Amino acid sequence: MSALFGNYGKRRAQIVKGQGTVVEDASGKKYLDFTSGIAVVSLGHAHPAIVKAIQEQSEKLWHISNLFDIPGQEKVAQKLVADTHLKYAFFCNSGAEANEAAIKLARKHTGKHHIITFEKSFHGRTFGAMSATGQGKVHNGFGPLVDKFTTLPFNDVAALEATVDDSVAAIMLEMIQGEGGVNSVTPEFAAAIAKICEDKGVLLIVDEVQTGIGRTGTRYAYEQTVLQPNIVTLAKGLGGGFPVGGMLGTAEFYDTFGPGTHGTTFGGNPLAMHVAETVLDYVFEPSFLENVQDLSSYFVKQLQANLPTSYTVQGQGLLLGIGCGEAEVAPYITAAEEKGLLLVGAGPNVIRLLPPLTVTKAEIDEAVQILKTILR
Ligand SMILES: Cc1ncc(COP(=O)(O)O)c(C=O)c1O
Repeated sequence: MSALFGNYGKRRAQIVKGQGTVVEDASGKKYLDFTSGIAVVSLGHAHPAIVKAIQEQSEKLWHISNLFDIPGQEKVAQKLVADTHLKYAFFCNSGAEANEAAIKLARKHTGKHHIITFEKSFHGRTFGAMSATGQGKVHNGFGPLVDKFTTLPFNDVAALEATVDDSVAAIMLEMIQGEGGVNSVTPEFAAAIAKICEDKGVLLIVDEVQTGIGRTGTRYAYEQTVLQPNIVTLAKGLGGGFPVGGMLGTAEFYDTFGPGTHGTTFGGNPLAMHVAETVLDYVFEPSFLENVQDLSSYFVKQLQANLPTSYTVQGQGLLLGIGCGEAEVAPYITAAEEKGLLLVGAGPNVIRLLPPLTVTKAEIDEAVQILKTILR
């Protein structure tokens, strides 16, 4: 009898170790991990540089709290905002926490409470982030949500234009809806958001918890659009498997988050920061990001060449999806697991492909062959 709550639907395989893209279960069976722990283990499992960073820092100092200056935070912040229009960072432990910080910052800065979000979005499970999430199944049973979120259809310019008025503090969205079906923001929608934010003085919060830190082939996914968000939220890939979240903001916010306004005990501790710094040393290298783009083009071509045309290939970088029409993907995911490929869904009808950013073309070939067999 388990002593755990049953809030997660568990997979059959019990994974006990991993190296690079390959993980192994308790029986010794090997799998290609095309989930990366849901877009987290970007440098693969047990990357030697991350192992070393954890070892080194844990022998020195792993936690001291934000009562004290943590030099690692400054280093990671500088790397995150370098060559962007963003200026400051705040560190926390998860994507939901990063979004809570963003919602609080936008509300306090503007003195307004109304935030526009989108159908099928996912921003996390805490009350504010859950209220921002545009999926009824995430809200069910939890009573009144945090007030003043309006959920609009995604990529619908007319709905946005008709709704944004002077009451709106911010528009909040993902560049690619990861949990909601691997749906990308269209260029037309991005242009409309940019114009509305400019014309109406509305803040833009881009949730890059899943798309950020190289996942889509650039440091941040917004860089591939006309958008210049005022606030960017991060987590997942930032710690390469160590829990790290972050929020970046433009210069205008400095005074809004003055001493005592917001905080966390664990956020940005020396161990988390040393790991994040190591991740960024790899992922923010232009050649690393170019390789992600190259792997992505290769992966997309192989999928298109090998899968029946009834399947759509969606997404960018190594946040890809296979749209399965009306078909439920759960049985495909189970079949892939039996054949040694770990996958995750994005909504009921899309298979999400999230290999480590260090995946090889040979591993992509192997995964495509398994997908070809199960999606015949
Ligand atoms: C876009 C996005 N935002 C926020 C979250 C929540 O992150 P966390 O689970 O770390 O709280 C997720 C998690 O899947 C996400 O994909």
